[in-house]
Amino acid sequence: MPPVWLQLRSVMSFDFDTVIPRKATGCIKYDRKPELDPFWVADMDFVSAPCILDALRKRIEHGIFGYAQAQPGLAETIAGYLETQRGVALNADHLVHLGGLVPALSLAVRAFCKPGEEVMTCTPVYYPFLGVHKDAGAELLTVDHVFTNGRWEFDWAKMEEAVSEKTKVFLLCNPQNPLGRVFGAEEVVKLAEFCEAHDLVLVSDEIHCDLILAEERTPHFSALNLPAHLAKRTITLLSPSKTWNIAGLGYAFAIIPDDTLRRKFSAARGHTLAEISALSYHAAEAAYRDGEPWRNELISYLKANCDELVRFVTQECEGLTIHPPEATYLAWIDARALGVPNPAEFFEKEAGLFLSDGASFGWPGFVRFNFACPRERMQEGLGKMKAALGARV
Ligand SMILES: Cc1ncc(COP(=O)(O)O)c(C=O)c1O
Repeated sequence: MPPVWLQLRSVMSFDFDTVIPRKATGCIKYDRKPELDPFWVADMDFVSAPCILDALRKRIEHGIFGYAQAQPGLAETIAGYLETQRGVALNADHLVHLGGLVPALSLAVRAFCKPGEEVMTCTPVYYPFLGVHKDAGAELLTVDHVFTNGRWEFDWAKMEEAVSEKTKVFLLCNPQNPLGRVFGAEEVVKLAEFCEAHDLVLVSDEIHCDLILAEERTPHFSALNLPAHLAKRTITLLSPSKTWNIAGLGYAFAIIPDDTLRRKFSAARGHTLAEISALSYHAAEAAYRDGEPWRNELISYLKANCDELVRFVTQECEGLTIHPPEATYLAWIDARALGVPNPAEFFEKEAGLFLSDGASFGWPGFVRFNFACPRERMQEGLGKMKAALGARV
């Protein structure tokens, strides 16, 4: 029986196998440290979906790129997407278009935290979560996730101990980057109740929610699915950028059911945000309207990459451990047993690899490996890791 990835290849209609040179195309992944083999920042080495390329070509052919506003088809398409994928009906008034998701984290903190107040989050976590509090002169309060019941969970007791009257905002990353956890209904409801009990605004970054590797096993529960009394303190942030590999175009959106919350959030923009790109609106519409067949194949491809990576790290990389991610294309690898002060630096020097350093997510001793690339390229990168480990005395 051929391996799963070889069986898959014969039934795929989109090409995820071709290695496409990206160096010197003005992309941070390859051009920041061009001498290294990059598996760090969260974008993919795949050409985006044909439906998106077609929409962009059509818009480019028009040739005029003045200030843009969302075409009516976008809100309609987002409504259809939310209905199918999350089972929620969109009230178009609740939708706020944004040029990216990280600015939304900053807006939320600026809108709901005064200097000296606190933003709370759980670590390790995507690094802007650990920095946006500074935009409001606020403080950061972190509680580590814990590995229990065979998965990364919230440490509810520590969170209760840590939260105080100064805490105003909770930043949730679901699916979690870098742990790869998909938080389900029980955990999200419990977290929303925690926010209600302590009067916190719950900001739920769900940018990775269309990248769940086995949805039947680990269903995602969106903050959009919370009952109304809990949803009214939520800001849910979504974007097609990770799933369809269009992060460089810059588009995200927020759904904020409560009018007061939404007004404050939007007012925090002031004059700090640029206009949203005309191209990004069209790419987003095409992704959510026609991008499902491509996304389905992408998930199969990523799942096979993930299985191979987990097998390789577990069986062939002494000193490294990994818990299989449930979502995202990011593998969180525990390298503490290597006993090197900085594993990312070790792999940079000894293997020529550019990995994300766990310290930037709040947990030194770990590295994050981005496996959204042609399998051959991933295997080469893993081979370099193994060789560097083997060469240690
Ligand atoms: C959890 C999370 N949020 C937000 C972003 C970035 O969003 P944007 O590029 O829209 O600012 C990323 C990118 O890796 C991410 O992992």
